[in-house]
Amino acid sequence: MFKLLIALSALVVISSAYGPAVRATKGEVWPKLQQEEKTSDYFIVRPFTFRFQGLADIGCPRLLDDAFTRYWLIIATEASLEHRGRRAEMGKKRTKFWQLDESFLGYLKRLKVEVSDKCTDDALPDFGDNENYTLTVNASVSTLSAQTIWGALRGLETFSQLIYLEQDALVINATTITDFPRFSFRGLHLDTSRHFLPVNIILQTLDGMAYNKFNVFHWHLTDDQSFPYKSRVYPELSEKGAYHPVSKVFEPSDIAKVIEYARVRGIRVIPEFDTPGHTSSWGASHPELLTTCYSNNQPNGNLGPMDPSKDTTYDFINNLFTEVVGVFPDSYFHIGGDEVDFSCWQSNPDITTFMSDNNISSYEGLENYFIQHVVDLLDKLNSKYLVWEEVFVNGVTLPNTTLVHVWRGEGFDTLRDVTKAGKYGVFSSCWYLDHLSSGSDWQKFYECEPLNFDGTDEQKKLVLGGEACMWTESVNEYNVMPRVWPRACATAEKLWSAESVNDFGAARPRLEEHVCRLNLRGIAAQPPNGPGVCL
Ligand SMILES: *[C@@H]1O[C@H](CO)[C@@H](O)[C@H](O)[C@H]1NC(C)=O
Ligand SMILES: *[C@@H]1O[C@H](CO)[C@@H](O)[C@H](O)[C@H]1NC(C)=O
Ligand SMILES: *[C@@H]1O[C@H](CO)[C@@H](O)[C@H](O)[C@H]1NC(C)=O
Ligand SMILES: *[C@@H]1O[C@H](CO)[C@@H](O)[C@H](O)[C@H]1NC(C)=O
Ligand SMILES: *[C@@H]1O[C@H](CO)[C@@H](O)[C@H](O)[C@H]1NC(C)=O
Repeated sequence: MFKLLIALSALVVISSAYGPAVRATKGEVWPKLQQEEKTSDYFIVRPFTFRFQGLADIGCPRLLDDAFTRYWLIIATEASLEHRGRRAEMGKKRTKFWQLDESFLGYLKRLKVEVSDKCTDDALPDFGDNENYTLTVNASVSTLSAQTIWGALRGLETFSQLIYLEQDALVINATTITDFPRFSFRGLHLDTSRHFLPVNIILQTLDGMAYNKFNVFHWHLTDDQSFPYKSRVYPELSEKGAYHPVSKVFEPSDIAKVIEYARVRGIRVIPEFDTPGHTSSWGASHPELLTTCYSNNQPNGNLGPMDPSKDTTYDFINNLFTEVVGVFPDSYFHIGGDEVDFSCWQSNPDITTFMSDNNISSYEGLENYFIQHVVDLLDKLNSKYLVWEEVFVNGVTLPNTTLVHVWRGEGFDTLRDVTKAGKYGVFSSCWYLDHLSSGSDWQKFYECEPLNFDGTDEQKKLVLGGEACMWTESVNEYNVMPRVWPRACATAEKLWSAESVNDFGAARPRLEEHVCRLNLRGIAAQPPNGPGVCL
């Protein structure tokens, strides 16, 4: 008993100070801005007289109006808290705090939004988009300027975060901002196979992504445990391979909804259909795709990775991936390729014969043979691809347009090798959201610098960014939001803000504010810093 007490008290850091562990900032932006000059002069925002104004000839009025509506609602919702407070005071007359204040510059009436590139309402975010913007809050009619609509969306997010509640009003300090992302690829990965996640949760996740300036949603659609994607050419894949053929599948209309919801927020959707491993669920309807495993020269009843020796395997993948490339408009496709278990291939005599017939001397070589077929197919379909790092490490021949997704170990040696070979890297090793520890465990995500590897400047330029990964073995729709948020916010800041923004202590008060902001906007983010309160 005594021992147990000692063990417990070692785990629990007892703080007895009155009040929250970390006091929230007011009107600070997450992820941190590249350049900002803020003064203590301020404007008051009154939602019912404030409006956004797009310049007439932008060319994508609907995209812009949708964004204006979203952000106006966010601002008005924050203002409604003020009304609740006021009602509680039952009409007590008080002087408004700003009326006698020299720092008060007036009421913010309009935010003018300028986009210099031509934009259309069906524009798709794509790799390498310019997301730069400038925002000047200096007059009752202030200005947000960007080259692209995507930059304007990032700027609107920033604008909404600058506004904070002070006593009974919404305040925005006079500010001059020039902002741009450090990395162009800022992703969140979500696994919807280990546990099915309903569409409304995916949409909430996209909201959270927009609030953190993420721009890639990596949708890990299928895995061993279930196949929830409802295919038009092979509907039996989800009929047999989903957890439930009706309630645990993504219909074409669901997929379209996710893609559109993401698009208008400037977020790309990259689907992943992992092969040749992680494919047991495909075998529920098409066991012939998978390798028969042997023990003592007899089939042992188990199925392994896809069977790379049969042409029919490639015909099947061909038909399915042709459909998928048509469904997902992004120019990239994640083809997986991780954790292929070679032992089943090794046990199967037909595979052994196939290898000697084709002069393939290793299982890496066999994997290469498989991936080469998939890659050739995607080349034909004009789609580019990401692969998990094993595909590169095992020596598969890949074009330089391939993005190699680094995830194992610390990852730095692999990033070095990938970029040395002239390939692009996307980094996830230190951002696995399924790795839990107690307390403010976003610290470990925050204190990870993706370019912390040995390489030339040229090599470092090939690191396009990274992804926070949410594998869902122990996560379903009831706990996914607090597990992702605010922990993925740490990744978001590493990927957007300057390299010098790396002080955990300095970030804590801003994240304290940001989590309250996320909560207010309906995101079930968990507390970031220990004891505290959102007011
Ligand atoms: C914003 O303005 C308020 C009110 O004048 C001031 O107290 C605060 O310090 C200002 N914030 C910054 C970061 O300058
Ligand atoms: C965005 O701004 C940064 C900093 O000024 C600049 O280095 C970068 O080239 C800009 N990006 C584009 C696409 O113009
Ligand atoms: C506010 O900033 C904009 C953009 O920098 C500038 O054109 C304008 O003159 C400024 N207005 C005032 C009142 O300072
Ligand atoms: C088989 O591969 C080896 C080593 O790569 C090579 O030297 C040999 O010429 C190949 N044989 C045939 C028949 O392709
Ligand atoms: C790919 O990158 C490597 C290393 O920088 C380079 O040697 C090679 O020529 C590139 N290949 C192509 C097809 O551009």
